[in-house]
Amino acid sequence: MRFYLSGCSNWHLGFSRLNSAKSRIKSYFQLGSDHGKLLTTNHMESSWTRTYATMPEKIPEDDPISNMLVDSFGRHHTYLRISLTERCNLRCQYCMPAEGVELTPGSKVMSQNEIVRLASLFVHSGVNKIRLTGGEPSIRKDIEEICSQLSNLRGLKTLAMTTNGLTLARKLPKLKECGLNLLNISLDTLVPAKFEFMTRRKGHERVMESIYTAVDLGYNPVKVNCVVMRGFNDDEICDFVELTKEKPINVRFIEFMPFDGNVWNVKKLVSYAEMLDIVGKRYTGIKRIQDHPTETAKNFTVEGHQGTVSFITSMTDHFCSGCNRLRLLADGNLKVCLFGPSEVSLRDPIREGADDNELRQIIGAAVKRKKGSHAGMFDIAKTPNRPMIHIGG
Ligand code: GTP
Ligand code: 5AD
Ligand code: SF4
Repeated sequence: MRFYLSGCSNWHLGFSRLNSAKSRIKSYFQLGSDHGKLLTTNHMESSWTRTYATMPEKIPEDDPISNMLVDSFGRHHTYLRISLTERCNLRCQYCMPAEGVELTPGSKVMSQNEIVRLASLFVHSGVNKIRLTGGEPSIRKDIEEICSQLSNLRGLKTLAMTTNGLTLARKLPKLKECGLNLLNISLDTLVPAKFEFMTRRKGHERVMESIYTAVDLGYNPVKVNCVVMRGFNDDEICDFVELTKEKPINVRFIEFMPFDGNVWNVKKLVSYAEMLDIVGKRYTGIKRIQDHPTETAKNFTVEGHQGTVSFITSMTDHFCSGCNRLRLLADGNLKVCLFGPSEVSLRDPIREGADDNELRQIIGAAVKRKKGSHAGMFDIAKTPNRPMIHIGG
C-alpha cells in the first residue's frame, strides 16, 4: 500500500487568501521560465564576490578515518545526514511538489534500531557529525530516543538537526537533554501571510517562537535557513540581517536549487553576488570569516551585530571540493551527493542479515564512485533526482 503526502495542487488558491503580500507574490509567479537570461546580467558577478571568493584549502586530517569513507578525490566523509522521515507538517513549494509525493510505506522506513546500527557503523569508521533531517525530523515519535542513542555514540562530536521549527519550541528542552547540540531552523519570510503562502500552512509565529526558544536555551549560533527567491522574499534580505543584531543568530541566505517537482527556474534564483551586494550596500561593516574547507556556507560578521550572516552558493559557486557529506535517506538508501541520482540500499542488506563487513563494502564502493563535483544548474534541473522532501537537504 502506498501513502501520499500532498500539497495544495492549485497554487492560486493560496494566492487569493493573501492581502498585502499578494502583488509581490504574484510577480514571483510571473517570472516565467526563460533559462539563461539572468546569467548575462551583472548580478552573477560583483566586486563583492570577487573580493571574497576563496577556494577551500586542503582538508585537514581529523581523527583516524576508515578507507570506507575516503573517496577517489581524497575527500574524508565525516558528516552523515540522516533523514528520519519523508513526512512533514509543512508543504513548502520549493521542496514539496504541488501534487504531493509518494511516501515509502512505514514498514520500509528505517526503524530506530536500523538507524542506530548504521549510525554506529559510520561513527566507528570516522564520522563525527550527524545531522537529522526529513521531511520534518521532529515529528518522528521516537525522536528523543534516537537523539539519546546517537549522542551516546563514542566519537560523535556534533548531533545536529535541520527543522522547520513548527512544533519545536515545546520539544526542544527535552531534545537538548537528549544531546541535540546544533540547530538549523528554516524560515523564508518574516511576513506571516507570505509564510502561509509558501508553506501552504499557518505557523509563522510558532517558528519565530522556536527560534527564540533555541536562543534562550543557549544554542549558539541558532542557524536560520532562508531560501531566497526573486519576487518572493528578496525584498526581506536586510530584515533578516536585522535578526542578527541582538541575538546569536546566523542567518543563511540560500540560493534556490532545482529538485524534482519544485518548478525551479533561473529567474527565481537570486545569486550570491546579488545578495551580497544588497547586504553590503546597507551594512558596510561586513567581513568574510575564514571558513573551514568543508563549509557549505560563506560566512560573514556584521559590525555591531551579535550574530552572523552567511550565503549558501550551491548554484553559482559550488563547494564540492571540500565536500564531507553522505546522506542516509529515510528508506535506507545511501546517497553520496545531493545532486547525484545514484543511490544504494543499506536497509535491504541489513534485512537480509548482512554483517558489518558486508555493509562496509557496500558503503565503501558507493563512496568511491562519488563524482568530483555536481553538474551545472541547468543540467541539474534536467536530471531526474528525488524531490527535496525525500532528501532532506
Ligand atoms: P551545517 O552542518 O550547520 O553546516 O548545515 P548545512 O548547511 O550542512 O545543512 P542545512 O540542512 O542547514 O542545509 C542548508 C542548505 O545547504 C540547504 O539548502 C541544503 O540543501 C544545502 N546543503 C547541505 N548540504 C549540502 C551539500 O552537500 N551540497 C550542496 N550543494 N548543498 C548542501
Ligand atoms: N533550494 C535551496 N534550499 C532548499 N531547502 C529546501 N528546498 C530547497 C531548495 N529547492 C532547504 C530548506 C531547509 C534545508 C534542508 O534545505 O529550507 O532549510
Ligand atoms: Fe517540510 Fe522542510 Fe520541505 Fe518545508 S523545506 S516542506 S519544512 S521538509
